[in-house]
Amino acid sequence: MLASSLLCPHCQQQLEFATAQRKTLSCHQGHRFDAAKQGYYNFLTGKGTNFTEDTAAMVAARAEFQTRGHYQPLATAITQAASQGAVNPTRILDAGAGTGYYLSELVENLGVPDTEAVALDISRYAMRRAAKVQHTTAIVWDVWRTLPSADASRDLVLNCFAPHNPKEFRRVLAPGGLCLVVTALPDHLQQVREPLGMLGIAEAKQDQLIARFGDHDLRLDNVQELRFDMSLDPQDLFNLAFMGPAGHHLDPDELRHRVNRIGTQEVRAAFGIYSFV
Ligand SMILES: C[S@@+](CC[C@H](N)C(=O)[O-])C[C@H]1O[C@@H](n2cnc3c(N)ncnc32)[C@H](O)[C@@H]1O
Ligand SMILES: [Zn+2]
Repeated sequence: MLASSLLCPHCQQQLEFATAQRKTLSCHQGHRFDAAKQGYYNFLTGKGTNFTEDTAAMVAARAEFQTRGHYQPLATAITQAASQGAVNPTRILDAGAGTGYYLSELVENLGVPDTEAVALDISRYAMRRAAKVQHTTAIVWDVWRTLPSADASRDLVLNCFAPHNPKEFRRVLAPGGLCLVVTALPDHLQQVREPLGMLGIAEAKQDQLIARFGDHDLRLDNVQELRFDMSLDPQDLFNLAFMGPAGHHLDPDELRHRVNRIGTQEVRAAFGIYSFV
């Protein structure tokens, strides 16, 4: 049984499920990957795989923030951009999928039969959650490396607040495919960035993104700026700060103290949704 154009990370040959239970992936060279008990595969095994993954606490904060629906307008906008920009996007790859929140929204709402999705993320804790998304194979992998997906094997590549690898996104996209990239705009969360100790967003980032993708033959077809206000209570503010890169450095007790001092706040979200073809 073919595993949806997945490639072995060691030898780049096609992977197949070894059994009908789909618990082991293997290639003809004999490389084997067993699913963890939470259902994801870890392709980042062996030497040279030292990295800092999002911790269980960071991923839990992200999941709670998303479950409370604060980024629902973004999830809706991503699904709309996907259905406008791609014809019948059956084969999806989410590079840096995190909990799989946006992927799950896509799979449920695109209305495409026979969806077959792959979620990649360097965090095992994220992939535990993404493995629960319907029709999805969740794989621990580093997006900077060669992606474990065959050439021209994806109708849609989603890349949401995660590292960009335009060269690989181009390679795995099928003709007529769509690459959707979501980034935070400079005014994203500006009311609370400093008081919560979050990192700033560089002004020039958007132009650089378009230029870098252009270098790899990914042409900007559409861009949408999405802004909306959220009413965030102290728990939301805690999650917001803790779920991002600052979560690696923030002291949870100190952060708890700060969000209680701030209280409930109106906070503006600002995103850029870029469609590359
Ligand atoms: C800000 S989160 C966004 C997650 C998800 N796309 C979302 O929007 O909810 C960034 C994600 O990128 C992942 N990540 C960071 N570096 C990565 C890498 N080199 N390869 C794969 N994933 C990476 C993190 O583990 C994290 O889940
Ligand atoms: Zn192999």
